[in-house]
Amino acid sequence: MSQTMLDGSSHSHADGKCPAADIFGPNRHAFCPPQDGDLRSPCPAVNTMANHGYIPRDGKHLNADIIIPALMECYNISKPFALVLTYGSLHLLQQGTKEFSLHDLARHGYIEHNASLCHADAGPGEEYAPVHPDLKMMQEFFADSAGGLVMNTEDVARARVRRESSYPGGSGLDLNHAVIACGEISAVLNIFNHPDPQLVARGVPLQPPSTFSWLFGLLGLARSPDPEITPTDGVSINVLRRWLQEERLPEGWKPYHETTLRSILLTTNKMRSIMRKLRAEASVDEVNPSSTTIASGVSAGIAATKDETSSSTGTVS
Ligand code: HEM
Repeated sequence: MSQTMLDGSSHSHADGKCPAADIFGPNRHAFCPPQDGDLRSPCPAVNTMANHGYIPRDGKHLNADIIIPALMECYNISKPFALVLTYGSLHLLQQGTKEFSLHDLARHGYIEHNASLCHADAGPGEEYAPVHPDLKMMQEFFADSAGGLVMNTEDVARARVRRESSYPGGSGLDLNHAVIACGEISAVLNIFNHPDPQLVARGVPLQPPSTFSWLFGLLGLARSPDPEITPTDGVSINVLRRWLQEERLPEGWKPYHETTLRSILLTTNKMRSIMRKLRAEASVDEVNPSSTTIASGVSAGIAATKDETSSSTGTVS
């Protein structure tokens, strides 16, 4: 007997067992992957919200009034950022109606773009891009991590340069989509960079201090940062793998801090400046006869940047 959700969503299980059937009970945000008939998008963030019941689990009949509070509750995104993200997305989507489904987000060329980190491009002439992550691309993305334990701003900048330089002409993205692509992964860096003393014990540095704390430090008034409460400089690859691959929140998930528009803009700006530097270094190497290929130039430039750039995510406010 199939079981239908009480929230009006058509998400249902052929065997009648949904771990989150009681939407008012303690398990209302339990993970449940999409079932037959449920719709999903190429965005791991909104798919995860559906898989955990922050938005209807079937991914249908969505609107801004559903998405905005869900972004705030699930990821602790500030209201101004949730408003900008949602209305900005609806504007780009040009649906002509207030209602949309998760699958509408896969329409190629609107929000969806080429050169994604973990999703293949829409095929030639296809209206919709794939919504499932590409596991090989995901491995390549994690291989961009310099330390192998976390992805920080330099690592994701390196990944974006690698993806965009694999297209003829070196980008494959117009300016809007290039900025959107950076914004997507900047949001991830800000939302998931939790304290993790185990990673710190394995050599992962803590998030650099804010300008305010840094000034306090100059005056000798700052305490040394505590790894139990200070986020790491980068997001754990284990957390990212589960979120990107299964579209599932970390076990016992609670957002550690609010993510604001300001913090995303800081990280995006920083990431784009690292990307410019990597590209400039790659093109210098390209005209230098000692460099054999553009690709080797990119990796040489990246290695140099890693040495020179010490901090990663924008300070979370
Ligand atoms: C209203 C809210 C949102 C909408 C409508 C939305 C929509 C989208 C769409 C259409 C894509 C596909 C772009 C592509 O072609 O790669 C995408 C990708 C992505 N989104 Fe979202 N998104 C939203 C919120 C978020 C949030 C809050 C985060 C961060 C936690 C996020 C993280 C990402 C990431 C990392 C990707 C890239 C996946 C890849 O490169 O493979 N999104 N989003």
